[in-house]
Parts: sequence; structure tokens; C-alpha cells
Amino acid sequence: MSGIRTIGILTSGGDAPGMNAAIRALTRTAIFNNFRVKAIFRGYKGLITGEISEFKTQNVSNIIQQGGTILKTARSEEFRTPEGRMLAYETLIREEIDALIVVGGDGTLTGARIFASEFNYPIVGVPGTIDNDIYGTDSTIGYDTALNTIIEAVDKIRDTASSHDRLFFIEVMGRDAGFLALNGAIASGAEAAIIPEIATEVDQLEELIKNGFRKTKNSSIVLVAESEITGGAMHYADRVKREYPEYDVRVVILGHVQRGGSPSAHDRILASRMGNAAIEALIEGQRNIMVGIDNDKVVYVPFNQAIKNDKPLDKELLKVLRTLSI
Ligand code: F6P
Repeated sequence: MSGIRTIGILTSGGDAPGMNAAIRALTRTAIFNNFRVKAIFRGYKGLITGEISEFKTQNVSNIIQQGGTILKTARSEEFRTPEGRMLAYETLIREEIDALIVVGGDGTLTGARIFASEFNYPIVGVPGTIDNDIYGTDSTIGYDTALNTIIEAVDKIRDTASSHDRLFFIEVMGRDAGFLALNGAIASGAEAAIIPEIATEVDQLEELIKNGFRKTKNSSIVLVAESEITGGAMHYADRVKREYPEYDVRVVILGHVQRGGSPSAHDRILASRMGNAAIEALIEGQRNIMVGIDNDKVVYVPFNQAIKNDKPLDKELLKVLRTLSI
């Protein structure tokens, strides 16, 4: 086990439902295996300022069902600098923390990779983000819950859309990835999804109209992934107003409502498995890897792969959506 006695845990970047379930699994698996656990608050920011306290099993009681993160989170600009990372390293030495588990998305894992190689320090990553944009894992913690939030909202919007015979563009999160938009569209029976992955290949609005969009329907729902590449829901609504003024268009931006709420069963189980696997990975002597789930099996993905590779979006899903929205 190469001298690891105390493990530090932090959550960083955008919060995601299921992060608490991961904190619980990490803490309890670590204590079960006779490690000490130190909780670091506010992500890398708290690592720099030393916001740390020891966690026992009771610190993580009654949190599996809670959204957000009891460890708090932040996007730390200081950790992007060598000076900030040096301060973070000094905190780890002072607190006698021998290894770190970080729960977060792309930015969090990128920070972990740089830090681990700069200081030759053992870190294991756990993918927690609603965006699902991390290579090497079928799903990230929080994605399933966010999808469920999206379909609940779309179901409600559909009631008013069909009452008024309107076309709604509903913008969902995802940063530059279309997983929430595409699978949200399939799951809510939407007519189409506009996603960054194909935004440069085709004019998705032209495609919609060309494919006989709305010919057999009075109301329509289109999910748009937020992104500079797509231009977002407002951009498409403005275009429709200009180019197809016969449509009665409205826009809904779902925003941060997608990040909240009690995690789904899927996310709780995923977080529990990943938290457990992250500690097992340290015990096995694994370093600088992210825990993932591939084909329902735990896998270890080197940071380099998880960060550098773009997670491919299954084009078959686009076909499913197009076929089912006739
Ligand atoms: O990465 C998660 C996410 O919710 C993205 O989908 C979104 O683009 C971003 O975070 C929003 O970040 P913030 O809460 O810092 O505005």
C-alpha cells in the first residue's frame, strides 16, 4: 500500500447529484480499510487555504439521498497557477495527507493530472458531472438525475406547447457536449435535438424543416444543447422568427435546476460503486487514474486518456430520435 495512511477527499467544479453518495462511499470504504479520512472543503480552493477536517463514518450518515455536495465546491483560479498548486501541496504535507481522491468533471481531472505529475503525488479521480462528457466511462455521476430533471420539465412544457400549438426551443446544459440534449430528447419524446457534435457538419434547423418537421403535429419541442458552437436556444428561436415566421416560438432555458435534486437510484449506485473502487484502486497501488464503468464493469482510465480524448457520441442515438419523431 506504499505508506498511505490518510486519504484526502474533495469535490470540485460544478456540483452534481450523487456527489454525496460518492463522498459517503469513499469515506466508509477508506475507514473500512483502516485509513484515516480528511475532508477538504470547497475543492482545490480549500486545499490551498487549508479548509480541512477529519471525517468519521457518522459524518457521512444520511447524505446518500441529498443533492449538491456537503464538501462544497468551487472553481479555483489559483489552482491553475504553479504558486497555487505549491500552496496546495504544502497543505497536504502539513495535514499528513498521503493520497487524494477528487470528484468532479473535466477541469477537476485536468487539475489532478497536472498536480500529480508536478509533485509525483498519488491521486485517483471519480467522474462527477451532469455533462457526461468524460471519456472512458459509460456514465458520470449526476448525468442520470439531470436527465430525469430534464424530462420532468419537458413533460410539463409539452402541456402548454400543445395547448397553444407552439414550437418550444428548450436549452439544456452540457457545456460543449450534447449527451443531455440528445438523450433528453429521446426520453421526453421531443421532435429533435440540436447538439454541438454535429453543429459544424449540418445546419440542424434546415435539417428539421427539410425532414418534414411539424407537418403532422401542431406543437413541437426541440432540445438545444447550450454551447458557443450551437449558439443556444435563443439563436435558433431568433432564426425561426426571421426565416419561418409562421411558427409561434418560445424559449425555455432550464439552467441550474438541472444540477439539483435528490440523486436517482442509478446515480446513487454508480457513485457507491465508483467511491468503493477509487479506494480499492489506491490499495492496489493505482495512481493518476480515473475510475470508470465500462459495460457495467469497473475500469481504471489513465488521466491522460480521460481528459485528452473526446467522449464519442453514439450516432445511432441520432437515428433513433429522427426515426421516432415522425
Ligand atoms: O459542468 C457542469 C455545468 O453545469 C455545465 O453543464 C455548465 O456549462 C456549467 O457547469 C455551468 O457552470 P457554473 O455553475 O459555474 O455557471
